[in-house]
Formats: sequence, C-alpha cells, structure tokens
Amino acid sequence: MMLIDSPQWQALAAHAAAMRPQHLRQLFAADPARFERFSLHRDGLLLDFSKQRLDGETLRLLHGLAAAADLDGWKQKMLAGEVINHTEDRAVRHMALRAGDQAPAEVHAVLERMQAFCESVHSGRRRGYSGERITDVVNIGIGGSDLGPRMATQALAAHQQPNLAVHFISNVDGADIAPLLARLNPRTTLFIVASKTFTTLETLINARTARAWLLAAAGRESAVAGHFVAISSDLERTREFGITADNVFEFWSWVGGRFSLWSAIGLSLALAIGWKHFSRLQEGARAMDKHFFEAPASENLPLTLALLSLWNTDFLGASTAAMLPYSQSLALLPAYLQQLEMESNGKQVNRQGEPVGVATSPIIWGEAGTNGQHSFYQLFHQGGQVIPCDFIALREADFPLPGHHGSLLANCLAQSAALAFGQTADEARAAGVPDKLVPYKVFPGNQPSTTLLLPALTPYSLGQLLALFEHKVFCLGVLWNINSFDQWGVELGKQLAAQLTPLIGSDGDSSLFDASTRGLLAALKQR
Ligand code: F6P
Repeated sequence: MMLIDSPQWQALAAHAAAMRPQHLRQLFAADPARFERFSLHRDGLLLDFSKQRLDGETLRLLHGLAAAADLDGWKQKMLAGEVINHTEDRAVRHMALRAGDQAPAEVHAVLERMQAFCESVHSGRRRGYSGERITDVVNIGIGGSDLGPRMATQALAAHQQPNLAVHFISNVDGADIAPLLARLNPRTTLFIVASKTFTTLETLINARTARAWLLAAAGRESAVAGHFVAISSDLERTREFGITADNVFEFWSWVGGRFSLWSAIGLSLALAIGWKHFSRLQEGARAMDKHFFEAPASENLPLTLALLSLWNTDFLGASTAAMLPYSQSLALLPAYLQQLEMESNGKQVNRQGEPVGVATSPIIWGEAGTNGQHSFYQLFHQGGQVIPCDFIALREADFPLPGHHGSLLANCLAQSAALAFGQTADEARAAGVPDKLVPYKVFPGNQPSTTLLLPALTPYSLGQLLALFEHKVFCLGVLWNINSFDQWGVELGKQLAAQLTPLIGSDGDSSLFDASTRGLLAALKQR
C-alpha cells in the first residue's frame, strides 16, 4: 500500500484541509495555554513548537502515523545492529561510538588511541621532522569527513586549546588549500587525511598536494610519517597511500559518513578542544540517545521535530526549512544539517524500491541570526511561501560582551513572533502608516516556527543538539519508509566527473556526451 493510501495518512490529509486556513493568531487566541501545551523541557533544553500550525488533534494523528510505521520496532532494529541500511548491506551503529562504558571493545581501543594522540600533540611530545612542536592541524576531508568536525570546532571556539590552530580543507579547488599552505609552516603542521572510503577524489588530490608541499620542505620521505595521519575504514587503501598502520585511526562501515563525528573523524575536533571536552560532547549525545529510546512519544524531542517537519512538508506544502541559529558560533550548523537531512532523506523510492509518492526531505538551508535578517528574511515575511523556521538560541552567551547577547535574543524572539502573527492592514493604519503604503506594510504572518533554547553552547549541549537532529532524521526515514543511510544519488555525478576529467582542455573523444557538455568542453579548450 502506498503511504498516502494508509488510513493514518488519509486522516491527516483530511485534518490538514481544515487546519490550513487557520491562522496562528486564531490558534493562540483560542488557547491561552498553548505555549505550555506545545513545548517540551528536557535536560536543560526547551523546545517551543507552539508557533507551529497545528493543534492537539494534529499531534494525535501524527503520532498515529509514527505508530503505524512501527517507529519503536525500527528503533529496536537499529539498536540491535540489524542491517537496516539494506542497499549497502550495513548496520547503523553510530550510537555505539558514544556509548561510553557500553561501547564495543574496538571502539574503546580507537578512542584510547585518539586520546593518547591528542595528549601527545598538546603536550608537545609529538613533534615535526625538525623537532619543533606542532602548531597547526589541517583536516583534509569532505562531506561527513569535514562538515561535522569543522562545524563543531567553530561552535566550541570558546573551549579551544591554546597554541594549536585547526584548519579544514575540503574543496578540490586549489583556492581552498593553496592560500592555507602559503601561511603554514611545514615543520610544525600536521595533516589528518579523513576519508571513510579513502577513494574520494577531492580528499586524495588535496592530500597529495599537502604531501608534496611537506616533502618539498623536508627533503626526505621519512618526514611524512610524523606529519600525516589518516582516518578511514579502509586500512588497505591508507597503506597504499603511504600512511603506516600506527598512523591510521580506524572506523567502520557501520558508521555513516554524516553520522561519523563521534568516531575517529572527530580527531581534529578533539585536537581543537581537548579530550575532556570531546568526551563531554559524547556524553551529551549519549543523554539524547537515552531520551530518544526511553521518553514516551508525546515527550520525545527527536520524534516531535520529525513529526513537525513531515507535517510542514507533506501537509502544509513547505518545500524548504530554514535553520536559523542565533549564535555566530553555530554558523556552520545549517551546512552540517544540509548533509545530515538532505543526503539522508532526499530519496524518491521507499524500502521496497517503489515510489514514495510524497515529498521527502525539504531543502534545508539557513544562516546565523541576526545576519539572515538583513538579507533573506524579507521573503519569509512577505514572499508568500510557507517557510518553516527552526530558531536555535542560547540562554547564556559563549562570548559574553555587554549589550550583545540580550540584543541577539530579542531579535530571535522578535522574528518568530513577527513571522507567526504578522501585521494586518488595520494594525498598520493604526500605527500611522499612510494609506498608500498600507499594502506594503501588511505582514501576513502564519509562518510556522520552532524555537529551541539551549542553556549555553557547551560540548555537552552541542552533543545533545546533534544527536537530536540525527534521531529526527532517523524518525523521518521511518515515517517515509525510506533508507536514510545510503546516498546513491551522489554517484552518477562522480562517474561523469571521472569520465570528463581527461577531456578538460584536451582533444579526447567527447562524442558520448550531450551537445551542451560538448560545447562547454570545446569552449574550455579555446582558453
Ligand atoms: O559523496 C558523498 C559522500 O560519500 C558522503 O556521504 C561522505 O560523507 C563524503 O562523500 C565523503 O566520503 P569519504 O569519507 O569516504 O571520503
């Protein structure tokens, strides 16, 4: 049976027809306790979803959909290590990486090596080929081997280790690595080549460039061992690349790239913030895992986020979702969530290989507040499209300065209120707007939003936050009956790029390609 033909989906569709015309103004007017009814408190987090366009019946029906999808059964399958990533024949066990005492021995072994490695760099015991201390670390990776540690390193800047700068290189464009190398000292730079598969071209090309740069300065091959470590699940390929086993930190095929921050992929982050903070990040995620598995559905934060996303996407017609951290430190969170949500759930076929029949992941995008207010929020307020917003704010500033944080929080609250309630023509007139300008000063409102309040941006709360979104993604996959853990959609472009690489600027045979691609190849040859 198609998802949309299920009685639960049909009931939601009928209910949505009645909800769509209702304005958040009406919903708030009808229920003075709306904030209390539609907000959840858990372990220092506050999730206010009262400004979503729903009522109690909406939630009841959405929870019915989750039960019909056997969400609890799928959670148990994931926990038990069943092969739920069926197209890649893999289990999904990223939670095991942060399970603390419950983690498998192989995980402990790698975490212990990571800790020892961090301590050897921080203490200055590990040195470069000239005997100098390591001052800079460069993580070379892309996608899941970049976005998580890069985002978290920036997010936790207030917890940074002294005297060590951590940099991230991802793009195959030489403009990424060249300016960085130009300002680094090869004698004091350590490279981390992070790639689960160790086949990703961008990463291998950047790693070769870094290696050549180091060799040019050191003048001897033996210097490489002290300056390069690898993180991968393919120890054969890391050896072929010339990185010895003692310099490789392993992770496993059962860790999806976009869920891998908790694995050795977090090494650059651990170097940036120190082992104690990395452990706290894991603890925060572990607390969220426990909540996800133990809290009842109606109090379950990840499930609630998932249900809201599905409701907005499939029943209120939203094709995008904006992630708006009111925290400059979380500026890279939207980019991280783009991969987490869109690579996981941007799928058109279900677990049976049949069309899903409804829209899956919305387009995730966003920007740190208040910056976004001065660029694209105009469209939120008056562009006429449904754009659900996730506001994320911190009670306490991570970089407290007089006058800053209060203003930041006020803007966050102001935006969610303005987007929800808008301004009518009468209100504009009453505020003294001249008649001819009234149409321009009408704000329709009724934009759905959620506000997530964190106590502060700490390793622990960041761990909670990231695990919250991971589990949201999992729930959505179950609700849509799709496999959230493969990413076949990225393959075709990679194959074509491999075929096109030898043709760029050369006379090779391009006849297999379409007229547009042939035209572009010809134009490139004329440079
Ligand atoms: O091409 C997509 C992808 O496979 C992502 O899923 C992954 O995070 C990224 O590339 C990097 O892959 P790897 O860690 O194997 O280099």
